[in-house]
Amino acid sequence: MFTPTMSRRAALTVAFGLAALLIEPARAQDTFKIGLIVPMTGGQASTGKQIDNAIKLYMQQKGDTVAGKKIEVILKDDGAVPDNTKRIAQELIVNDKVNVIAGFGITPAALAAAPLATQAKVPEIVMAAGTSIITERSPYIVRTSFTLAQSSTIIGDWAAKNGIKKVATLTSDYAPGNDALRFFKENFTAGGGTIVEEVKVPLQNPDFAPFLQRMKDSKPDAMFVFVPAGQGGNFMKQYAERGLDKSGIKVIGPGDVMDDDLLNNMGDAALGAVTAHLYSAAHPSQMNKDFVAAYKKAFNNRPGFMAVGGYDGIHLIYEALKKTGGKTDGDSLVAAMKGMKWESPRGPISIDPETRDIVQNIYIRKVEKVNGELYNVEFATFEAVKDSGKTKK
Ligand code: PHB
Repeated sequence: MFTPTMSRRAALTVAFGLAALLIEPARAQDTFKIGLIVPMTGGQASTGKQIDNAIKLYMQQKGDTVAGKKIEVILKDDGAVPDNTKRIAQELIVNDKVNVIAGFGITPAALAAAPLATQAKVPEIVMAAGTSIITERSPYIVRTSFTLAQSSTIIGDWAAKNGIKKVATLTSDYAPGNDALRFFKENFTAGGGTIVEEVKVPLQNPDFAPFLQRMKDSKPDAMFVFVPAGQGGNFMKQYAERGLDKSGIKVIGPGDVMDDDLLNNMGDAALGAVTAHLYSAAHPSQMNKDFVAAYKKAFNNRPGFMAVGGYDGIHLIYEALKKTGGKTDGDSLVAAMKGMKWESPRGPISIDPETRDIVQNIYIRKVEKVNGELYNVEFATFEAVKDSGKTKK
């Protein structure tokens, strides 16, 4: 191979090239890469920040080596624009050779990445989005967030059983809003309730004021609200400005509108709001108390439900890698994730082995003042709730 005419320099180059080839695969095997795609800018930025924070916290607590592999998180901001999500997922899979893609702040982003996960056999860990159909879009999708069906069915029943007869609904006009509306309506009307007004607001930069006047005029007992994480503060500001709190129209819904990272700044207009959800910063377990204290210390804010989706998502990845003994192919990882059970700051959770979706407690909570701060105080628990919103087979 080395002819006598070959220069010393050329020979060295070849030798280095060969050495690099030998070293490279070894290094690649020792690193496990997670491509984290979340909105860090734009209207959904609070979701990305909560997930990024929670993953940083988890890795600080548990270290960054699992089954002999160094975990590397590559954070990318998609601004919650699905075209960006798709392009970024492609780059992460093809160029960075990530072992897992994760995050996904909104449903359209999770759906945009699904065909790539299937094609590349790379697990897609959904830590935020909540439309039921998502896990049906790829056998490589596993979810640690929630579905809107889980909480909206329960608040629908609760409203009908607790003296609420007439409800006006306000929902964000895209897939999870439509799930929330459908599952609330089915259960509330089956229990004898009536919907007196139904409005849908745009996902991007919604102005709630014109809709709130219509709500007020329809004189409901309560208004059912779904807006995605990050929008609750603005919604409650406009709700108070229009005097809906003074008219005695209580807010009910899934808990997204009362997200803990915004709740304490909403003011007294939020008092008495009853929502059904997976997580409250006031959840009284020791594990949650420790989680909230550590998160506050590190980031100077309360964790909300998106932080918990991220914390559990990274835990799922760590535990799957341990269970496979460091095998990193998508099929082995997803098989390891199916049926996994653990205690989360939100309570006991598991991954349904049939659907790869999360099974979790749903709590009914009321906003109350505790030591001068607003909290969602849990007062009823529905245990091990599965998603009921998938396509009927
Ligand atoms: C979603 O787009 O699926 C989504 C986002 C934020 C939420 C709930 C659902 O709070």
